[in-house]
Amino acid sequence: MLNKNIFIFLKNSLFYILFFLFLFLFSCQSSIKEHPYPVTQNATTSNAMAVSAHPLATRVGLSILKKGGNAIDATIAIQFALAVVYPRAGNIGGGGFMVVRTNKGEYASLDYREKAPKLGSRDMYLNTDKNVIPNLSRIGHLAVGVPGTVDGLINAHTKYGQLAFAEVIQPAIDLAKNGYQLSPKEVNRLNKTQEAFREHNTTMPVFVREASWKVGDLLVQKDLAQTLTLIRDNGRAGFYEGITADKIVAEMKAGKGLISHEDLLEYQSKWRTPIIGDYKNYKVISMPPPSSGGIALLQLLKLVEPFPLSTDGFHSVDAIHTMVEAERRVYADRAKHLGDIDFYPVPQDSLLEAAYLLDRMSDFSKDKATTSESIAAGAFEVAMESFETTHTCVVDKAGNAVSLTTTLNGNYGSKVVVSNAGFLLNNEMDDFSAKPGVPNMYGLVGNEANAIEPGKRMLSSMTPTIIEKDGQLHLILGAPGGSTIITAVFQVFLNVAEFNMSLEEAVWASRFHHQWLPDQIMYEKDGLDNAVKKALEDKGHTLNERAYLALIKAIQVLPNGDLQGVGDNRSEDHAEGY
Ligand code: GLY
Repeated sequence: MLNKNIFIFLKNSLFYILFFLFLFLFSCQSSIKEHPYPVTQNATTSNAMAVSAHPLATRVGLSILKKGGNAIDATIAIQFALAVVYPRAGNIGGGGFMVVRTNKGEYASLDYREKAPKLGSRDMYLNTDKNVIPNLSRIGHLAVGVPGTVDGLINAHTKYGQLAFAEVIQPAIDLAKNGYQLSPKEVNRLNKTQEAFREHNTTMPVFVREASWKVGDLLVQKDLAQTLTLIRDNGRAGFYEGITADKIVAEMKAGKGLISHEDLLEYQSKWRTPIIGDYKNYKVISMPPPSSGGIALLQLLKLVEPFPLSTDGFHSVDAIHTMVEAERRVYADRAKHLGDIDFYPVPQDSLLEAAYLLDRMSDFSKDKATTSESIAAGAFEVAMESFETTHTCVVDKAGNAVSLTTTLNGNYGSKVVVSNAGFLLNNEMDDFSAKPGVPNMYGLVGNEANAIEPGKRMLSSMTPTIIEKDGQLHLILGAPGGSTIITAVFQVFLNVAEFNMSLEEAVWASRFHHQWLPDQIMYEKDGLDNAVKKALEDKGHTLNERAYLALIKAIQVLPNGDLQGVGDNRSEDHAEGY
């Protein structure tokens, strides 16, 4: 009798366990299952790997790699494809940065950041009382910087490309012409942005329609296909001259924007010397100014290097406190010292000097938060919105690696689509400091170094990074997320290097962020234990919950030589290789 009851109890328990396990697995996967294209966020292969924000774009890259294209060809193909299938950030009307490590161990970094138009001026967003006019740098035609993406991608292809340019751009043309089905997150964004599209466009773009967009709806972009075809057939002249340039300038005139034919004609992307530095047995290769990413990342790593982070433990009070205090000091330096190196004498060497960095933590207390008020930027002799940007990582069969971050700045940038040309224009002018001490949409403050000047590039936080371990290619990573990009790259690297995590654990782990001002630790919802939060508050920190902090995409070369690609589980990223 007793045995029979035990048997019935076990049978019922097993049923409930299986039932709840099924519900749990289903709920974890549901958002991805809804996606019209299968999404893989963690993949390991032996030859080549690509990770991007959209499965169709990753697959475009993969097809280029399989045809014999190298990592640069694949990255360029992905970028053009993202301009079609990920219009909120993938772009031809924005800008970005690319870091390359060839299989011979040569490094390069390409700056194709937007720049201020010639008619731009220091106080262009201020009223007669010298106060910032809300939203003028964030939405509409006046927010647009001169786009750099097309020149940058063509420049990269000229230097490194293996396949013909026409072959690399063609998949994007096909996607625009034939259409693609919308994903859950794109539908959500498009529906939320309808009003802004209507308000800021003279000709209604394809993104606008009466009925709400639904998952699986087909988005066909004929105008964009035509613009991409002009670029395929004429190279940079297909964008910066002729029909496309005429359309951009006409759009500017219609909306009182400033970009002229001369601005477009003169735009040049630039190869710059990457920021390179060490952390223990790792070598970090990242982006120099006009991005703050590389300098800030290296500063952060050097500031925490002397501390016993791995002994303290992942998300221990001591580890978070140390990292946050480093972040506070680095963002104070960013606000004062970083800007476009062609216009302002960024004290790059001083900011990375060992003695300076050692001194920077000299007032660090293990027990007490420093106030941001008391942290000024270091002194030398020197002459946050909804954030959307996107990152792509590719490693090819020969071992060439590319880490690329590109952006329109906000979701769908300025919300302005160039009439009859089908592409969105950025709102990158908001990354300048419109007025010293007044925060931009990321809450970042700036100063003289990042003041607006005609032809100057606005400061960025984009941090496309490649990391070697013991001289060998080890990690390729980067993220969208505005000001939180730098701290996300910092933390994901430390998760691997100090906290012994696999790549998926490192990317998917919760994150926190401090950017000097506002003086608060932002942390992801449910990301920190209550006891840890209380202990941090007891030290004097203020905490502020956020939905998420940055969306990392990464590839790791595993000890056996295999490539693991990981997309962020906070997003619809897709990793695939062969
Ligand atoms: N637009 C964001 C950044 O460049 O940091």
